[in-house]
Amino acid sequence: VADDGYRLWLKYDRVADASRLAQYRAAAQFVAASGGDAVLTTAAAELQRGLQGLLGQAVPRLAAPASTKRGILLAIDPSANVSGSSASRDGYQISAQGKNLVVKGRSGAGVLYGVFALLRQLQTGQSVANLSLTSSPRIQYRLLNHWDNPNGTVERGYAGSSIWKWNELPQRLDPRYTDYARANASIGINGVAINNVNASARYLTAEYLDKVKALAGVMRPYGIRVYLSVFWAAPKVIGGLKTADPLDPQVQQWWKAKTDEIYRAIPDFGGFLVKANSEGEPGPQDYGRNHADGANMLATALGTHDGIVMWRAFVYKAGSDDRFKQAYEEFKPLDGKFSPKVLVQVKNGPIDFQAREPFHPLFGAMPQTPLVLEVQITQEYLGMATHLVYLAPMFKECLDADTQTKGPGSTVARVVDGSLDQHRLSGIAGVANIGTDRNWTGHPMGQANWYAFGRLAWDYTLPSAAIAKEWTQMTLTREPKAVATIVELMDRSRDVYVRYTTPLGLHHIMGQNIHYGPEPWLAQAGRPDWTAVYYHKADSLGLGFNRTATGSNALALYSAGVQQQWGNPTTCPLNYLLWFHHVGWKQPLRTGRTLWNELVTRYYTGADSVTWMQQRWASVQPAVDPALHADVAARLAIQRREALWWRDACVLYFQTFSKQPIPAPFAPPT
Ligand code: GCU
Repeated sequence: VADDGYRLWLKYDRVADASRLAQYRAAAQFVAASGGDAVLTTAAAELQRGLQGLLGQAVPRLAAPASTKRGILLAIDPSANVSGSSASRDGYQISAQGKNLVVKGRSGAGVLYGVFALLRQLQTGQSVANLSLTSSPRIQYRLLNHWDNPNGTVERGYAGSSIWKWNELPQRLDPRYTDYARANASIGINGVAINNVNASARYLTAEYLDKVKALAGVMRPYGIRVYLSVFWAAPKVIGGLKTADPLDPQVQQWWKAKTDEIYRAIPDFGGFLVKANSEGEPGPQDYGRNHADGANMLATALGTHDGIVMWRAFVYKAGSDDRFKQAYEEFKPLDGKFSPKVLVQVKNGPIDFQAREPFHPLFGAMPQTPLVLEVQITQEYLGMATHLVYLAPMFKECLDADTQTKGPGSTVARVVDGSLDQHRLSGIAGVANIGTDRNWTGHPMGQANWYAFGRLAWDYTLPSAAIAKEWTQMTLTREPKAVATIVELMDRSRDVYVRYTTPLGLHHIMGQNIHYGPEPWLAQAGRPDWTAVYYHKADSLGLGFNRTATGSNALALYSAGVQQQWGNPTTCPLNYLLWFHHVGWKQPLRTGRTLWNELVTRYYTGADSVTWMQQRWASVQPAVDPALHADVAARLAIQRREALWWRDACVLYFQTFSKQPIPAPFAPPT
């Protein structure tokens, strides 16, 4: 049977290695779990399901361990000894106890995460003899953000329609919802904001809340809470009020009543995600109020309910000299003004999910406010669902970046996990790449980005390659040489993409609106900061955006240590060079090449690396499902063609400014 990708990394195919199979069969003759906790029950059922597939035989569930057989015990133990963040109720511990294996969780969810960790051991062929594993998430709120609309479309979605079938809810629950919840729980995701940040007010109507309630009922046994993106002007649009001013008592009362109504239907509702006064969305500024006024009003409406407000900092306006600075300028002054239930959600970089951005200057700059890191799993600016780009290295580049705001080691990860500034709340959000395509993500390899997001949200210290390896083993093949080849290909793919699209710190030179393909010549759009020339600033002298003190001075938003390194073009990492400097075409760089020659070299070698990726992929053909292999190979062929498109469009366009020849060995034969 062709592998259609539906089962993701939860395939549970029978273990091929005979000695491993024998070991697993001996160790797992029963599953024992007592108590009626709903998530614990899910954990037991998932373990039985996994074992049945992997061992090729049914494994019974017992209320108590069998004395004569070896099996797996599941138990909730709030004082279980877990490594990592000891405050987390999601931690688990797996250990051998006598002849049995015991999976303890600090909550039902902890047991479920432990079960998935145990299944992962089996799926990747590890020994379970004397198994001892313990883990606890570093970040508390680990969310997917769906940009799904009521009409079934997905903003920046490339894998079909929305998986939520609003016309069928609440009566019919598509089985896919359960498989979605399983996949999320298997990687530790514990919350989903189900609708687009460009939100429809409709979700807050009684009609839709009934549907949301039904979805929450599917998610709950998997330890997943549901969140809603809210339309700021909902009190006007569906509440019949004249205003949405957060300081208006009637508006406050409306949100309070609405929130209570939600919690009556969904007692474990997670809270609100808000995009306000951004890209035309309404917000508190429409009434002369600020973001804190708006966020705090919603926090007050939440009252004693166990929910949070995630208020997005993705804001920019027409007419500024540098969009880079705007979120900082609006939000930094509000540090310390947010209620304890509010987290400010910040994109990884200052512009908008470009293939490579420096870390957002708000990280480290708002010590009194918990900040949620928002990354994009859907590949809006990274080749959508046709280019193979493994995103873990990009997520980690941001998490590992050192803000230096409290001395060396003040990484973005430590801002986000709350440890740098001792915050009680911590969160991370990934914009989902999921749709109704049979394989969920359009590009079969896009599944790895969903997977990697969850694994890093749980533990950002995991190496990208290690995550790629376990995903590959569970999803594609267990053949060691093929695994190594695929992991190498994945791990290099993001750098390859950057080289053939936006090398050396170029950014925002993609096709207008669609955000696909090159359009560096774009000079006319709705406003200057939607063009490309605003960002690359190519002229007869050179290329790049001067953000030093002699330019927009956006660099001044960073700590002194960062400014010192990035402010000097000779010490600024080449990957960020044109983010901060306007560099002369003939300026020699550290590589020994001039800027122009380095630029051309990167475009050409980047495009050639796609050929390398094609060759590597071809070499694993015998080890991978034929249909899936052919699918990825065909997408790589598109990627190769489009890498040439990017290369030629950009090199030829920039050449009209540099007036330099294309250097050997790339120059076309004359
Ligand atoms: C990007 C994207 C929009 C989205 C916005 C956001 O600009 O293109 O579609 O709405 O980000 O994050 O709010």
